[in-house]
Amino acid sequence: MSAVIEERRGRIALLKLNNPPVNGLGWPVREGLEAAILRLAADAEVDGIVVTGAGRMFCAGADIREFGTEPPAHVRRLTPILDDLEGMEKPVVAAIHGVAAGGGLELALGCHYRVCGPKTKLGLPEVTLGILPGAGGTQRMPRVAGVSKALELIVSGRLVSEKEAYESGIVDELVDGDVDTVIAAAVAAAERLAKSDSAPRRSCDRTDGLQEAKDNPGLFDSFRKSMAKRARGMNAPYACVRCIEAAATMEFADGLKFERKEFEQLVNADEARSMRHAFFAEREVAKIPDVAKDTPTRPIQNAGVIGCGTMGGGIAMVFANAGIPVTIVESEQAALDAGIEKIRKNYAATVSKGRLGQAEMDKRMALITPTTDLVELAATDIVVEAVFEDMSVKKELFARLDRVCKPGVIMATNTSTLDVDEIAAATSRPEDVIGTHFFSPANVMRLMENVRGEKTSDDVIATVMGLSKTLGKVGVLVGVCHGFVGNRMLHQYLREAMFLVEEGALPQDIDRVLYDFGMPMGPFAMCDLAGNDVGWRVRQEQIKANGGKPTNIRYSGTIADKICDLGRFGQKTGKGWFKYADGRTPEPDPEVEAIIVETSAELGLERRDISDDEILERCLYPLVNEGAKILDEGIALRASDIDVVWMHGYGFPRFRGGPMFWADTVGLKTIGEKMRQFEKEHGPWMAPSPLLLKLVDEGKGFAEL
Ligand code: CAA
Repeated sequence: MSAVIEERRGRIALLKLNNPPVNGLGWPVREGLEAAILRLAADAEVDGIVVTGAGRMFCAGADIREFGTEPPAHVRRLTPILDDLEGMEKPVVAAIHGVAAGGGLELALGCHYRVCGPKTKLGLPEVTLGILPGAGGTQRMPRVAGVSKALELIVSGRLVSEKEAYESGIVDELVDGDVDTVIAAAVAAAERLAKSDSAPRRSCDRTDGLQEAKDNPGLFDSFRKSMAKRARGMNAPYACVRCIEAAATMEFADGLKFERKEFEQLVNADEARSMRHAFFAEREVAKIPDVAKDTPTRPIQNAGVIGCGTMGGGIAMVFANAGIPVTIVESEQAALDAGIEKIRKNYAATVSKGRLGQAEMDKRMALITPTTDLVELAATDIVVEAVFEDMSVKKELFARLDRVCKPGVIMATNTSTLDVDEIAAATSRPEDVIGTHFFSPANVMRLMENVRGEKTSDDVIATVMGLSKTLGKVGVLVGVCHGFVGNRMLHQYLREAMFLVEEGALPQDIDRVLYDFGMPMGPFAMCDLAGNDVGWRVRQEQIKANGGKPTNIRYSGTIADKICDLGRFGQKTGKGWFKYADGRTPEPDPEVEAIIVETSAELGLERRDISDDEILERCLYPLVNEGAKILDEGIALRASDIDVVWMHGYGFPRFRGGPMFWADTVGLKTIGEKMRQFEKEHGPWMAPSPLLLKLVDEGKGFAEL
């Protein structure tokens, strides 16, 4: 089947891009498009052209898989093909449906008129791949939608609805109906334009959208200032701004050349490679090699959540947000009322920020049914337990659920550390038990670590992985171990951060280095946000279980314990590792510094200057090393799954591709050698993992596993 299908609608030629699954503009499509343009320009039987996409969408842009490869010499880039398309004397109309993203929207902008169907997403998301719209998008979009709108859309990479696209002038006509209706309207528009005396309206000739930048040339600098925090560490967003600035100051043809130069500098850099990796990793994660793609799933029409604390409440909101009715169970009425009130307040805060309508909030609240009676979960399709992290409590609860719930229910636990198999063994149906580890705040963080128990059945896995998507989450399937993937690696990261403080660094030094690396915040600000008391309790339990001695050879909690002894639990108490005068912004606190210096002396450690490089290596290399152990043990299916866990659960910078991809860019040999050195200097917990050493020996990276 041809990559561009040609049909006729009377005297209008209909070109359908045909490259499943998303009509990516790979070289066969470009070749087909170019040939059709040449032929149709000369065809006296054709008055106009309609371009559309076969299948479920118009076009999702360049074929990302082609980046970094060379097409056959005779195939041109998209930019000159679009120049020819736009330059045609016959009207060219885009019939847009489903998605028009990246090069797909650039193609549409090269057409003379755009008709768009319902439920369509349009945008230029290239920046999320570390590049810029490289087929004239940075030059045509500001001309069509105005400079401010173009800046916002291109630098955020946001996809907009057809309604917003219409209001911004990106599409000219909205049509309500199926694809055929959209095509019919586009054909009618082409016929109308063919009969009109005016020349085709070409985006490249338009100047109205550029006027605002001519009136206010300072607009670009203020935009750069406003994006500085979001674009931290990245090049692509700034390149996008430079190109739009070029659109406002240069002739169209020169602007295109400028855009090309900027694009070429980005496309093979680490930033773009990392973000492409992230894109494919996020899609790969849904594929479970030993669970057949066509495994039947169980219908999830309603849900139950047990526990109305921060996690339980957040999880209930996640279901309600997805339109799934949810019953929330708490044993005490007062705790239930408080939990529901917290949910209401959370929604109300979103409404007051204008991000949710009052009617939508009311609808979501109505989907949440509070109860103190577990029996009300009898007919529920999935139950998520989010009670106190205590094995005996959970086992007792699962035994009760086993008695109460209907056959076929999925029984999920939100435990962040406990053994899912032990919990499952408390029921008569361990095949129906799975872990669904949400990250706090559950209604915000996108990660769901779905923990597969030894006996979890394939259809439960398939259902929960699908459910993650329905809930707007990224589900990653992991195996059972203490802390699963994310928290087990986090432990390494936090431990070294604590040791570094004992040895000479201050929390603000460490936080600065990791923030500059691209983390949303450093480890100490993160602990203050999560609450220092949580780890404190865990350490106390561990010490008790270990006969009064900390488990580690070297204990990392000495300073943290002193901080907690003072009630400095973090943001919620106004003080933690930092102080919070305004309740949110961390400020170094001399009181903490005094405790740190005093503790170093007590531990017999002579404080020394610690370089930024050492901070980064000490915090991140052991984290990667633990990732290698996790892979070796089969707890994660792929290195890229670990990257997804860290990008979506902990905000590891996407432009670095996640910790394992980043490790490959650093070089595993470098990391292996450093871990050996750390092992000698600090202790056996820093020993490089066998898998890491094996890959170093073989000269390979995690990507080649
Ligand atoms: N190139 C190659 N493959 C692509 C692709 C693209 N542009 N977009 C999606 N795919 C693949 C996915 O990898 C996935 O493959 P598998 O089934 O093998 O995993 C398949 O298409 C379906 O994708 P999704 O699972 O993402 O499907 P969805 O329905 O959830 O989302 C979408 C559809 C909104 C189009 C989403 O796929 C998406 O956002 N795609 C990327 C869009 C994009 O960034 N375009 C810009 C490309 S760069 C560019 O165009 C440069 C330029 O200036 C010329």
